[in-house]
Amino acid sequence: MSGRLLVTGAAGHLGRRVIEHLIERKAGPIIATTRDTSKIADLATRGVEVRMADFDKPETLVTAFAGADRMLMISTDAISAPGRRLAQHKTAVAAAERAGVKHIVYTSFPAPRPNSDSVIEDDHFWTEQAIAASSLSWTFMRHGLYTDGLARFLQRALQTGTWATATQNRPRHYVTRDDCARADAAALASGDTSKRIYEITGPAAPTPAEVAAIVSDVIGRQVAHVNVPADVLRSGMEGAGLPPTVVGAMIGFDIATALGFHAIVTPAVEELTGRAPASVRDFVTANKAAFGAA
Ligand SMILES: NC(=O)c1ccc[n+]([C@@H]2O[C@H](COP(=O)([O-])OP(=O)(O)OC[C@H]3O[C@@H](n4cnc5c(N)ncnc54)[C@H](OP(=O)(O)O)[C@@H]3O)[C@@H](O)[C@H]2O)c1
Repeated sequence: MSGRLLVTGAAGHLGRRVIEHLIERKAGPIIATTRDTSKIADLATRGVEVRMADFDKPETLVTAFAGADRMLMISTDAISAPGRRLAQHKTAVAAAERAGVKHIVYTSFPAPRPNSDSVIEDDHFWTEQAIAASSLSWTFMRHGLYTDGLARFLQRALQTGTWATATQNRPRHYVTRDDCARADAAALASGDTSKRIYEITGPAAPTPAEVAAIVSDVIGRQVAHVNVPADVLRSGMEGAGLPPTVVGAMIGFDIATALGFHAIVTPAVEELTGRAPASVRDFVTANKAAFGAA
């Protein structure tokens, strides 16, 4: 028995998909929390208990989490100021403890580590540490880079024909957001309390040159990958006006890939869900319009 299952951030893209997968599995009872309950009011008509919870408002959290046995804590998107998201996550973990939650499933990222240049790796490392130091049992779901993000990353490349990264053309294990959501739902509903880390990856780790070839083939427009030094890419992003934390995060992804941190491929999605994850080719083929195909 997994007990009452709670999902934070339920109005986000990932949270919404997790709830759909939990409903499909007939798991629960399910509690969905969000900052704005009007965005998920429809879920209440489908048997989900909808509650308000904002990690920036600690006073909302103990009540919001009360009665839940297992909680999926979805990492927030508050990366514009260093330290903000980590403070949010620590607040939520402390509230979960006080509310009597027994287990946290947390959406982490590959190779989390202290890294003052990348708020992503740094936040996820210190959040994992905060959860591990709590009295709760936990599951860390280290989601690889979403395949869904490729359409945005490649937007300019699809116009110019050149995709610049600082990855040294090393492999990266893209995984779709929906496969992450399905795996998160399975881990939350499982009742497992064994403090496991899952590396959530797609079925392969193509190099950027291979990704460019797949996209060119499926979309019918030529894109070639070119490796550039990280500081050149950084100057270009800064020149385009991207916020420093976002630039640090993007460069951080590429440096981590160049170091080999994103090359690992695991069977975690299939083991958790019984279904093989989608490949980059599967995703691009199913979402041609997002890649600008006519
Ligand atoms: N692996 C990857 O490639 C990748 C890519 C993008 C993002 N991510 C991470 O994965 C998370 C989910 O992705 P997504 O695509 O669903 O992002 P999204 O649609 O942008 O959703 C943002 C999420 O942050 C939550 N949030 C923001 N501020 C919050 C606060 N003060 N208190 C509680 N929750 C807060 C939102 O919850 P409500 O709106 O329901 O309150 C929502 O779940 C992101 O937040 C980010 O940490 C990973």
